Amino acid sequence: MKFRCTVKERSLILNNNEQEKRSAGEKAVDFIKDGMTVGLGTGSTVYWLIQKLGKRVSEGLKVKCIPTSIHTERLAMNLEIPIVTFNEIDKIDIAIDGADEVDKDLNVIKGGGGALVREKIIAEFADQFIVIVDQKKLSEQLGKHFLPVEVTPFGWQATAKYIANLGCQVKLREEDEKIFVSDNDNYILDCYFEKIEDAAKLNEKIKMITGVVDTGLFIDMVDLCIVGKGSDTEIIK
Ligand code: 5RP
Repeated sequence: MKFRCTVKERSLILNNNEQEKRSAGEKAVDFIKDGMTVGLGTGSTVYWLIQKLGKRVSEGLKVKCIPTSIHTERLAMNLEIPIVTFNEIDKIDIAIDGADEVDKDLNVIKGGGGALVREKIIAEFADQFIVIVDQKKLSEQLGKHFLPVEVTPFGWQATAKYIANLGCQVKLREEDEKIFVSDNDNYILDCYFEKIEDAAKLNEKIKMITGVVDTGLFIDMVDLCIVGKGSDTEIIK
């Protein structure tokens, strides 16, 4: 016998956090119009965006999507969402992605999933950049979440020392007891600051260090944030 439940029952089954991710992810699809080239982010909130977008595509919506990770590319391809590369486009109309922390000025920390470099390239190139989050991600001042920094494997130990000198504890990211390797074949250093006083300045300082590819600080990049609130959403500009 197949287990069936109503939409309302289903939303009660999903825990609140997951429900909010779903609300935000699904709402974001309203911003995608016919003919657009769309940057597709990475993570568990973006999962819901991709599911709904796949449905819209099956109903006839015409889009081209550029994924920020191999994981997202696979998810989208499974739903027959058309995928393109930078070779085939000269602009991105909209990029939609999750975030690990969002402050009141819509500066964000990203990279919890290790896709920050591709995510930043795509967000920067897009005409509009939207982040989708659950309420737990909102913060007065950035720093509650650790800051992911992508670095070259060569000399990562030296790069980590220079970053630590900026006032944080640095941990090389591991997964299943192995060093985590990004889609760009780099390593991720997770940097634990007690507080980030000036995120823009910190971003510049870390980017100056040789060996750093980029940081998870996305400063002045977000146009709009969709926050899941239960099964509803709030839009912050
Ligand atoms: C991946 C990211 C993600 O967007 C971020 O970690 C949020 O993920 P989730 O929606 O699963 O909480 O930056 O590199």
